[in-house]
Amino acid sequence: MPVLISSELNDSSPPVREQHLREVAAHLLYICGRSEAELSIMLVSDERMAELNQVYRNRKGPTNVLSFSLMEGRDAEMAGNMLGDVVISVETAAREAARDKVTVNRRLVVLLVHGLAHLLGYDHERSDREADLMTKMEKELLQQLNGQRRKNMMKLAINVDHVATLREARGIDEPDPVLAAGICELAGAEGIVVHLREDRRHIQDRDVRLLRQTVKTKLNLEMGATEEIIKIALQVRPDMVTLVPEKRKELTTEGGLNVSGQKKKISGAIDRMSKAGIPVSLFIDPDSRQIKASRNVGATFVEIHTGTYADATSEKEQDEEFKKIADAAEEAFEAGLRVNAGHGLNYVNTAQIAALDTIEELSIGHAVMSRAIFVGLDQAVREMLALMM
Ligand code: PXP
Repeated sequence: MPVLISSELNDSSPPVREQHLREVAAHLLYICGRSEAELSIMLVSDERMAELNQVYRNRKGPTNVLSFSLMEGRDAEMAGNMLGDVVISVETAAREAARDKVTVNRRLVVLLVHGLAHLLGYDHERSDREADLMTKMEKELLQQLNGQRRKNMMKLAINVDHVATLREARGIDEPDPVLAAGICELAGAEGIVVHLREDRRHIQDRDVRLLRQTVKTKLNLEMGATEEIIKIALQVRPDMVTLVPEKRKELTTEGGLNVSGQKKKISGAIDRMSKAGIPVSLFIDPDSRQIKASRNVGATFVEIHTGTYADATSEKEQDEEFKKIADAAEEAFEAGLRVNAGHGLNYVNTAQIAALDTIEELSIGHAVMSRAIFVGLDQAVREMLALMM
């Protein structure tokens, strides 16, 4: 066992995904050419960390990470393949995660990289030159780890439903969502989304069929899992479908699918799409139960509902909702699902979500169309893309 994790935490400590941390540590050893080495990671409380900090460094209070090398001093000869211990205070990591607006597990990885760099002989206190070398090493390791995640900018898929809403308000044939989709693609959008609702309140069958012929990037058909719409999807063959809950009276999709409560219906729809080679995404709330159920029914993607985050009325509430999204995206990604997100995203709240490297695509409609009325559609899409860089 090259990586050993021991935990002195209790029930009130922030939750840690130990298996994930073990896998990351093993991968780090591999990247460093030390696959044969043994590493011990100790997860401790602030109280325990303060004791260690006092005894070994004569410093007061807890710190985030301490490394104890077995390759130095009188233990070196006995150490064999054992590199040493990286001790991390999970409580300090959690505070730093909140400060950096990342998940606790992400922060633990950053601290693990720092601790490991120490065990490999790097140091940031001896001289500026050595500190620079250590920072460079840590950056390289993190980049190599992130290489397993999204490497490029997050993709933007534009939902053109509201172009059709405006058309239907007059009952004539303009503005045309098909033309709008082309403009969005020319401006840099990498996907077009339309929701063919049962009541056909905006997008019509004709739009979906024409878009299938004209979209050059990726056509994502949003739909309820009803027989009529499933048949249309199987005929039109979009590049992917996103299953959403659909209620006739709602103004817009109000929340995520209850996948765990209707596994049979959803897995049936997924089976039919899979046979036609159409990947399925499930629009779900940032909720661990729904992620597990999505994986169990065979979804390829989940789209995490960002509506509650977008509707938050205080910074505190928004931070809490963001954390739920970040944790859910992380969990889904680690479970092997591909992760998209959307709903209610606008020019103020998108950048924070776009920074999450577990999410590959955002689906945005209303905010871009609203801005397009004043600045034009091309400009509105480009401005959104700029925010996501
Ligand atoms: N994702 C899903 C599943 C949706 O239903 C919608 C709304 O149609 C969106 C994303 C886009 O939401 P908004 O129009 O608020 O950007």
